[in-house]
Amino acid sequence: MFSSVNSMGLMGLRAYPVQAEVDLSQSMPAFEIVGLPGAAVKESRDRVRSAIRNCGMAFPLGKIIVNLSPADVRKDGALYDLPIFMGILTAAGMLEADLSDSAFLGELSLSGEVRRVNGVLPLVLQAKEMGLRNVFIPEGNAAEGAVVKGINVYPLAHVQQLLDHYFKGQPLETAKPVPTEPAAADSFLDFADVKGQSGAKRALEVAAAGGHNLLMIGSPGAGKSMLAKRIPSILPEMTFEESIETTKIHSVAGLLSEQASLITQRPFRAPHHTISPAGLSGGGTVPRPGEISLAHNGVLFLDELPEFSRDAMEVLRQPIEDGQVTISRVSGSLTYPCSMMVVAAMNPCPCGYYGHPVRECTCSQNAVGRYLSKVSGPLLDRLDLHIEVAPVEYEHLVSTQKEESSASIRQRVNAARHLQQQRYQGLGFSCNANLPAPAVNRFCPMDDGATALLSRAFDTMGLSARAYDRILKVSRTIADLDSAEVISRRHIAEAVQYRSLDRKYWNR
Ligand SMILES: Nc1ncnc2c1ncn2[C@@H]1O[C@H](COP(=O)(O)OP(=O)(O)OP(=O)(O)O)[C@@H](O)[C@H]1O
Ligand SMILES: [Mg+2]
Repeated sequence: MFSSVNSMGLMGLRAYPVQAEVDLSQSMPAFEIVGLPGAAVKESRDRVRSAIRNCGMAFPLGKIIVNLSPADVRKDGALYDLPIFMGILTAAGMLEADLSDSAFLGELSLSGEVRRVNGVLPLVLQAKEMGLRNVFIPEGNAAEGAVVKGINVYPLAHVQQLLDHYFKGQPLETAKPVPTEPAAADSFLDFADVKGQSGAKRALEVAAAGGHNLLMIGSPGAGKSMLAKRIPSILPEMTFEESIETTKIHSVAGLLSEQASLITQRPFRAPHHTISPAGLSGGGTVPRPGEISLAHNGVLFLDELPEFSRDAMEVLRQPIEDGQVTISRVSGSLTYPCSMMVVAAMNPCPCGYYGHPVRECTCSQNAVGRYLSKVSGPLLDRLDLHIEVAPVEYEHLVSTQKEESSASIRQRVNAARHLQQQRYQGLGFSCNANLPAPAVNRFCPMDDGATALLSRAFDTMGLSARAYDRILKVSRTIADLDSAEVISRRHIAEAVQYRSLDRKYWNR
């Protein structure tokens, strides 16, 4: 007898339909899985066999062939346990039910418990796209599955529930939507704690409003890490589409907690500088998203930038430009999105006090040069705003004057981002930083004063074409914070000033 059960597979973030076809014939007992199964899928045999027995049923005798179609795409993970289980029961005639409008996914324990798997959000979205009415998923993924509307999502803790449903007509409950994920533990970090530093705060506001990359240079204890840790508190609200995309990536990486439904706060990833290039970009035999993709629609913070390996820095170049990263493997190549805002922090030299207003730097000119040259030129060129964080002045530090709160900064950021979303509606990007080069001139109209200033800066500073585009995009954001449609001289002046540090330190 033959049966076919709907399921889904994942290639990167892209889900595709999978059919678990089961053929049971009367010959020598055997149990085989074909259709390019990975190791976890091959081991499915033992789990499914035990689960059937431990549910009090006899494992069917005969030769069982399971084909996971399409047969030319490699299948990985344990999510096919449940569809194979259902396929065997129907092929053996132990279960008579119409499964054509349902899909199944989940790992089984030997006793028949249904265990959590990765990537449930894109898989359930795919089930909906296939026009199915029901999808059965592990209970541990219920919050994530419940995000998808327009399809009945049934969470299962044990296959017995499924058997009771089909054999005894016991109704199953659909997954309940969970409001949103719990607030992050560090959500109490607020810009109100940072005394003074108005210049740095302004630059961070501009960066957050337009999604621009930013580099902070300053001596030890100047407050670079302190400022960076507060960036999440001023990031603009996520749109629903951004939330879905970011949640998909975290789902595929298996990083969503059981209670987490949709990610509604922009991610802030701060990998340690010992991270490998593959850890940043993504990799492994079954390529998993790396830190840059986990930071999609959020922030990638690189503290102590020169300490990162040269290879790690190089690997960032193309993804920063393209907003996506392609990982090649023998089994094929995968593309993950990584449209992120890169924030980097560094000391200006090994001792940390080069350029300090009072303390003397003990490094030789050579050592300073060597240290700074660890940051490659092309990477530096991609960081739109460069700011110097000077140690906070004494009178600011001890002042009792209240500093502006993150909530109030965030209001301006949200307003500026809202303008951008309206302007770029339907164009496939939503912030100034992602404005593609050919569209820069169209969306960044300048008045005469602005044009004159920019052309002078271009000549005197020897800017690259990329730097020119990036300055225009930052000016666009500064104008948006000003609610101005046309970019004027002062907007350009501020943006150009954020490009002057590479000349001071790197002599570019
Ligand atoms: N503007 C400020 N207002 C209040 N506290 C500050 C300020 N600047 C620095 N501090 C205090 O100094 C501490 C050290 O700052 P932080 O760790 O951010 O320095 P850093 O610039 O990252 O130094 P390093 O280069 O050594 O990493 C902060 O945790 C904070 O307590
Ligand atoms: Mg620091």
